[in-house]
Amino acid sequence: MRVIKVENYNEVSERAAAMIASQVILQPDCVLGLATGSTPIGTYKKLIQWYNEGKVDFSEVMSINLDEYIGLDGSSEQSYRYFMNHNLFEHININIAKTFVPDGMAKNGEEACSLYDERIKNAGGIDLQLLGIGNNGHIGFNEPSDCFLECTHIVELEESTIAANARFFRSEEEVPKAAITMGMGGIMRAKKVLLIANGAQKAAIIKKAMEGPVTPKIPASILQLHSDCTIIYSEE
Ligand code: F6R
Repeated sequence: MRVIKVENYNEVSERAAAMIASQVILQPDCVLGLATGSTPIGTYKKLIQWYNEGKVDFSEVMSINLDEYIGLDGSSEQSYRYFMNHNLFEHININIAKTFVPDGMAKNGEEACSLYDERIKNAGGIDLQLLGIGNNGHIGFNEPSDCFLECTHIVELEESTIAANARFFRSEEEVPKAAITMGMGGIMRAKKVLLIANGAQKAAIIKKAMEGPVTPKIPASILQLHSDCTIIYSEE
């Protein structure tokens, strides 16, 4: 695990974007695993800036997102598909048909999960997986649990996750109670993993995930076992 502590959020974003841009420059048809939430917004802004400056070309990239709320379709402003379109995809030259977000509206949830795993497998796996981390240590929506789940699955969100994500909704009641998330297999089989975190409220969980025992009670702790994982964080 490579840990890079930086001064502030801008530096987190710049370093993370530099890693992603390097990946795309070195391997134009790479598969990027992408995340939503507040933390990657600055990273995506930098990537958009560098795209506009002609420094990086996304035309051959495929993207596979970590998760989506159950019951929200892509036109809902709180959906992760909407987030990705709005914060990144609409501003760069990625082929939108090659951007994948789990289907939160699928009638058959189990089928949607196995199709997503097939999608990852058929893409040849993820080359670089970007992650944020929840205050409870979740990555994707792999919530603290008694075991690590390998495959894409539907998960009931923890109260603390619902409360943390309420800031994106009009009220806490509107936050969906379940989500579909890539499992630990998809994340751990990524060739490279990049986790970004910002703010004092993430310091304790980052320390536990990096230095504590590897346990599904702190899902991000599994990253200690990844052979190429970088953590960039700031306690700004
Ligand atoms: C989002 C995701 C989540 C977030 C995490 C941190 O796709 O998978 O694990 O990365 O909840 O969210 P922020 O960045 O809002 O603190």
